[in-house]
Amino acid sequence: MVAAEDTRDLRELADVDPDRILDTLNESITRRMPSYRELYLRWERLNWRVSDLDFTQDRADWMALPDAHKERLLWTLAAFYVAEQRVAATLSPYVTAAPKLEQKIFLTTQLVDEQRHAVFFDRWFQEVVAAGDGDLSVRLKSSRQWLGPGFEPLFDNYLEEVTCELRDNPHDVRLFAKAVAVYHIVIEGVLALTGQKFILAWARDNGILPGFRAGFTAVARDESRHVSFGARVIRDLLDEDPSLVVDIHDGMRETLRLGTALYQPPRGDVTYTSAFGYSLGDLFNYGSIQLEKKLRAIGMPSPYIEVFVDEVDGHWPPPGGGLVPQDLFQRATTGFMRGFSRAVPRLAPGVSMMMLYLGFVPDAARGVDAIFEFHLHGRGGGIYTVIVRDGTCRILVGPSREKPDVIYEMDAMTWAELTAGYATGDEAVLLGKLRIKGDAILGRRFNEFFAPPGEPMIRAASQPHAPDRAAGSLPVRVVGRVLRRRPAA
Ligand SMILES: [Fe+2]
Ligand SMILES: [Fe+2]
Repeated sequence: MVAAEDTRDLRELADVDPDRILDTLNESITRRMPSYRELYLRWERLNWRVSDLDFTQDRADWMALPDAHKERLLWTLAAFYVAEQRVAATLSPYVTAAPKLEQKIFLTTQLVDEQRHAVFFDRWFQEVVAAGDGDLSVRLKSSRQWLGPGFEPLFDNYLEEVTCELRDNPHDVRLFAKAVAVYHIVIEGVLALTGQKFILAWARDNGILPGFRAGFTAVARDESRHVSFGARVIRDLLDEDPSLVVDIHDGMRETLRLGTALYQPPRGDVTYTSAFGYSLGDLFNYGSIQLEKKLRAIGMPSPYIEVFVDEVDGHWPPPGGGLVPQDLFQRATTGFMRGFSRAVPRLAPGVSMMMLYLGFVPDAARGVDAIFEFHLHGRGGGIYTVIVRDGTCRILVGPSREKPDVIYEMDAMTWAELTAGYATGDEAVLLGKLRIKGDAILGRRFNEFFAPPGEPMIRAASQPHAPDRAAGSLPVRVVGRVLRRRPAA
């Protein structure tokens, strides 16, 4: 029997398909947004206890994981552990600022939830990872060793800044709208639920960490309730004052920008996600679908976002770099392309364009100063600018402000084919599918500055993903065959 996502039995919850929770959330807010009272009653009904969880098997499973998997899993889970503590610590200004009493009541239940999530992670880290006894704050501090550089700008700086401003100005409805967009819609609705879904699916497919699965699924179920609440608040606020969309977009834009950096694996090493059976592209695509569904249910447009990526202080990609949501909306397209007659890759053209930065080779671009503009026509297309300047790379949505050195014109599908390695640039030119304008010599050098574009799409080859492999032999294969070779040093 398939376990229902609203079961009260935590052991059953361990076997719930994480997709069900997200589907139920999206269906319910799209059909009819639940009232604050309904959300409160759901909280009462689905309350759970961290003390009911049994981590004995989790400890055995953890000990059996190879070190490479442990290290990669800790990068993800420590972010959740510390983030739960951060969101628990920054929610109380919302309770004071909420204009309606029903909202204050729900937010108080959410405050309890977030503290419970923090306790859940703390217990798991203590008993399974053996993260040390003693003070919670000491454990939290030491768990920060596993966080990536993208954590601090979002959770320690931006969320802190937004919520402190709200605390100091509790009657400012614009700040409240923005703060809900940041916290409930993007951090919980896009970033957290997406990450949870993939890591839960991995543990479930492998039949390991049952205590963690049970608790984390209960966490995801709570988060979905918080997101429903956030969507309801945003819709109610916009009903009263549509001009609030400016503040809401402002919060979303910055959180998405910082959130994409949060997802970047250490040193751009894609095995941090591929070891668990998903790629960065999967994360971004799934996250963008989640965001799109929330925006549709609320009935609001998506924000416009400019994104850039530079190498900063040796961090690669830097905090704040990443992909663009509106670009991500142009997601997976499948079908056949005339002339090539092969299935196109599932990553959207715009996404793969933005993912170029993952393959940027600073050394290969030393001394180069060039602006490349891409005009991708048709579905999933758009104009993108890639600026390569002395070992750094910026990727912008839209045309360049300065005159580009090279303009590439092609169908979005051709770009998808090229990045998947189904055709070379020369073949596309010969077939009349690619036109290069401007500096022809520079135009043919573009590929030198990027490692094969197929690389970021490395995915685990075997399903389910057996955890018994060492780092050197992580089960990966390149999904899109590479189009270009990394230039010889
Ligand atoms: Fe939470
Ligand atoms: Fe939450």
